[in-house]
Amino acid sequence: MITRDEIVFRRVLVTGANGLLGQAIVTRLSGLQNYDVLATGRDADPKFEGCSCGYISLDITDTDSMHRIFVDFEPDVVVNCAAMTQVDLCETRKSECWKTNVDAVESLVKLCRVHNTKLVHVSTDFIFDGKNGPYRETDRPDPVNYYGKSKVASENAVRSLPDNLWTIVRTVLVYGHARKLTRSNIATWIISNLSEGKSINVVTDQFRSPTYVEDLARGIEKAIRYNKTGVYHISGRDQLSVYDFALKIAEVLGYDENLIHPVDASSFSQTAARPPRTGFIILKAETELGYRPMSFELALTDLESRLNASVKA
Ligand SMILES: NC(=O)c1ccc[n+]([C@@H]2O[C@H](COP(=O)([O-])OP(=O)(O)OC[C@H]3O[C@@H](n4cnc5c(N)ncnc54)[C@H](OP(=O)(O)O)[C@@H]3O)[C@@H](O)[C@H]2O)c1
Repeated sequence: MITRDEIVFRRVLVTGANGLLGQAIVTRLSGLQNYDVLATGRDADPKFEGCSCGYISLDITDTDSMHRIFVDFEPDVVVNCAAMTQVDLCETRKSECWKTNVDAVESLVKLCRVHNTKLVHVSTDFIFDGKNGPYRETDRPDPVNYYGKSKVASENAVRSLPDNLWTIVRTVLVYGHARKLTRSNIATWIISNLSEGKSINVVTDQFRSPTYVEDLARGIEKAIRYNKTGVYHISGRDQLSVYDFALKIAEVLGYDENLIHPVDASSFSQTAARPPRTGFIILKAETELGYRPMSFELALTDLESRLNASVKA
């Protein structure tokens, strides 16, 4: 049940604000009156534009800079979107992965404890082994790769805060548009290939519940607005193979489905193992946050219009 005893937090610090989720969160929160947003990212300048928020360059592994920002900005809430997210790179650069995904979160936790600041931390379906998805919030983590291990450790650090000071939002295979990203995401990769008439190989034996980044940003905003604590699974509603997701994109946006070739995961030589069958049960977020993800049709046409607008800009 949604309780309406909303606590209005005025000051929100966003880390990793130049990433896919970070940009969507900053855009969403700074467009609402009750948030004063300070966006931070590793780059000297913000990649997003048109947001009424501050921006400061911040590497979250730099504890002194983070401390100074806490003292100067006095955030009520931190939304931690910063992470080393390249799963294969995490496998080969383990110490860099741990430094960003765990050590920096531990520093953030210490600052949140001292300053009585709420931490909303973003985590992943890759904390699960993928044998029995879709998963609930109460299922037992058992990661199959180093990225997943680092995210479990980050969750454990966050859980050491007093109960009223933490929320963990886990999500799955996030897609959407953001400006000047260095990496494509599953949907933009599929769209860019199909729109150029290029064939793609897509796995039939990895199952996910793909998440539109605008839905995720809305869900996180609701968790902040309703002052929710604990763990929430926020993803798309449907579990399907990545291959079926590619077919869905072709169907909705009118591309040639024959360009999409089914393959199994063994045909790719990836450094890190992937959990085969994840995806989330989102009942808790639906019930407690009023979270309602868009249908694929709506999400994909929204994404297409954002992509078209960015080409024209
Ligand atoms: N994308 C998905 O499918 C997915 C699925 C499940 C969970 N998640 C989680 O969602 C969160 C947001 O990820 P995303 O999808 O937005 O990925 P993303 O686009 O890779 O964004 C991550 C951001 O963190 C930044 N970053 C990395 N190290 C940093 C550091 N030391 N200090 C400050 N910023 C740093 C990255 O900057 P650089 O570009 O400079 O590296 C990037 O802007 C992460 O916690 C991720 O684990 C994502």
